[in-house]
Amino acid sequence: MTRTTGVFLFASLLALPAFAQNAGGPAAKPDLAAGRQLYEQSCGVCHTKPLITSGRFGPALSKENLGGQADVMAEVISNGIPQRMPGFKHQYNATQIRAIVAYVQTLDPPPPDAKPTARTTGERRDDN
Ligand code: HEC
Repeated sequence: MTRTTGVFLFASLLALPAFAQNAGGPAAKPDLAAGRQLYEQSCGVCHTKPLITSGRFGPALSKENLGGQADVMAEVISNGIPQRMPGFKHQYNATQIRAIVAYVQTLDPPPPDAKPTARTTGERRDDN
C-alpha cells in the first residue's frame, strides 16, 4: 500500500461518522447538523461572539461572505488565511468542509452595526 493510499484510507475512516449520519449516503446533500457541530467546535472561537461584551477575532460569517460562493469558502476553510486563520484541510475531509460551508450559508448576515470593520488595515469593510 502506498503512503497516499494509507492517508486516503485513514481520511475515509474519519469520514465514516459523517456519512453514517447522512442517511442518503455520501452523494446526499451536505449534512447541516454535522456542519453546525463542526463550526461550533472549530470556528466559533474566532467567528462568534459568545457574549455581547466579548470580542471577536474574525469577521461574523454568513451566507454573504465571499459573495456566497461555496467553492471559494471551501478553499478558505481548507487552506486558511496566512497569519490570520488556520487551514482545516488536515483536520476535516471534503465532505465535512462542505457541511461547514452549507451550515454557514444558512446564517443571515449580522445587522449593520455589528459588521466587521477590518482586515489587517483596520479600515471599515462595507462590502459584506
Ligand atoms: C484562529 C481564529 C480563526 C479560526 C479558528 C477560524 N477562523 Fe475564519 N477567519 C479568521 C480571521 C481573523 C479572518 C479574517 C482574515 C482577514 O480578513 O484577513 C477569517 C476569515 C474567514 C473567512 C473569510 C471571510 C471574508 O468574508 O473574507 C471565512 C469564510 C472563514 N474565516 C471561515 C472559517 C471557518 C468555516 C472556520 C472553521 C472551520 C474558521 N474560519 C476558523 C480567524 C479564524
